[in-house]
Amino acid sequence: MRQAALFVLLAVNLSGACTNLQDTQTTTHYFRTKLDHFDDADNAATFEFRYMSNDAHYKPGRPIFVYVGGPWPMYSYYIENGHFYDIAVRERGWLFANEHRFYGDSIPNGDLSTDNLKFLTVEQTLEDLAELIRHLKGKVVCDENAKVILMGAGYGGTVATYMRKQYPELVDGVWISSGRVEARLNFKAYAVLIGEMILNISEMFNICKTLQTNLDEQTFFYSVKQKIQFEILAHQNVQSTKLICDSLNNSKELTNLQRLAEWVRNNTQDQDCNPYDFETSLKNLRDVDIGNDENMLWGKRQLAYQSCTEFGWFLTTDALDQPFGHRVDMEYFYNYCAAIFGGWLTPEEINDGIRRTNERFGGQNQDITNVLFVNGGLDPMRNISITEYHEKESDAIVVSEYFSSADMGSISDQDSPELMKAKLRIEEYVQRWIN
Ligand SMILES: *[C@@H]1O[C@H](CO)[C@@H](O)[C@H](O)[C@H]1NC(C)=O
Ligand SMILES: *[C@@H]1O[C@H](CO)[C@@H](O)[C@H](O)[C@H]1NC(C)=O
Ligand SMILES: *[C@@H]1O[C@H](CO)[C@@H](O)[C@H](O)[C@H]1NC(C)=O
Ligand SMILES: *[C@@H]1O[C@H](CO)[C@@H](O)[C@H](O)[C@H]1NC(C)=O
Repeated sequence: MRQAALFVLLAVNLSGACTNLQDTQTTTHYFRTKLDHFDDADNAATFEFRYMSNDAHYKPGRPIFVYVGGPWPMYSYYIENGHFYDIAVRERGWLFANEHRFYGDSIPNGDLSTDNLKFLTVEQTLEDLAELIRHLKGKVVCDENAKVILMGAGYGGTVATYMRKQYPELVDGVWISSGRVEARLNFKAYAVLIGEMILNISEMFNICKTLQTNLDEQTFFYSVKQKIQFEILAHQNVQSTKLICDSLNNSKELTNLQRLAEWVRNNTQDQDCNPYDFETSLKNLRDVDIGNDENMLWGKRQLAYQSCTEFGWFLTTDALDQPFGHRVDMEYFYNYCAAIFGGWLTPEEINDGIRRTNERFGGQNQDITNVLFVNGGLDPMRNISITEYHEKESDAIVVSEYFSSADMGSISDQDSPELMKAKLRIEEYVQRWIN
């Protein structure tokens, strides 16, 4: 009897002791299983796939939460953040994430040959998961009765759904986010649904022509961004940003997109429609009639020409730390220049033009005398101006809390002390230069 008991004890230890240790952070592990679960041979080939574990909030007897792997390298985000995590924490659950076979670091034989890929099937994946869940219950969490909740997104949701269908006894509940559940050869409805959304966006934002091409899309993002930036800067005061945010926040519309669309409609009521598609957006810029207000009053075509041939200043969303998304790149502006002025304006030509300008005029590396550079500390254009230059009877002043050109108004008792000081400095310099 004693010997048998000892043997059981040893056997338990050898097969991976059920120690139920608490870790304070997410840890990565490997789980070895059969490459082909439907091969009954004793010496069937095996491979390892990865999984992660976070038991920081676990209380014995509580459930297991698995963030199901999809077609991506496993990552810890959703077992450390987000709604699934929050729920697990509230339930004092133990969180896991698995890596789907053939993705990330879980590629059998490190090989993606077609021959090897025959083991990449959802059926095999379900077996991987079933084995893993049994292992977690028996050997890791050490609670055969632990409830198991799966969460899956996209194709991960497909796996989670099928898992519940195939192994209802192993899986107690499944949360699918944007999961595809039906396999479909020709998923043509996707384009229709996206198309509907674009139609709706065209309508929501009162756009002249329905958005269709990639250039239309970029024009749309660019135009909305410009509209917001214009409204922020037009009134030259910090309050206007707050006003925009307030009207977006106070809108009765349900979604953020609808709120933004309402705001754009509210602020473009003088337009029959908004030229936020590529072709319409260029209409005025292509108009050579000098009587056209856009040219006459705003010089838009002219300015576009100078941008395309000498200065650039194209307002892309390529920078990382800005809030306008990343849809508007130089491709858009290269297309824009060529579409307005002709194909001779190649990207090379445009780049050459800008290089020539700076070679000729020094750009931000100035060696110049008697110049005063005044900029508003809130004016983005300060970035292509000069804000540090204190030599040769020259200076650079940044008036914080102001947008552009605040220094151009007459001295007034409304001026902040800083603005007042800047204005007096200007007077002083001018006097020095002329005397
Ligand atoms: C587009 O709008 C129509 C009617 O306003 C609505 O029924 C449909 O659900 C919307 N589609 C999308 C993708 O938002
Ligand atoms: C947005 O509106 C909500 C409710 O109307 C309000 O509680 C919240 O303070 C507002 N947020 C901001 C940043 O103004
Ligand atoms: C748009 O204007 C309407 C009517 O003045 C107003 O109720 C609504 O809040 C405004 N919405 C936005 C987002 O500015
Ligand atoms: C322009 O802005 C970029 C990004 O914030 C910054 O790295 C750079 O130093 C700025 N240059 C000047 C001259 O202000």
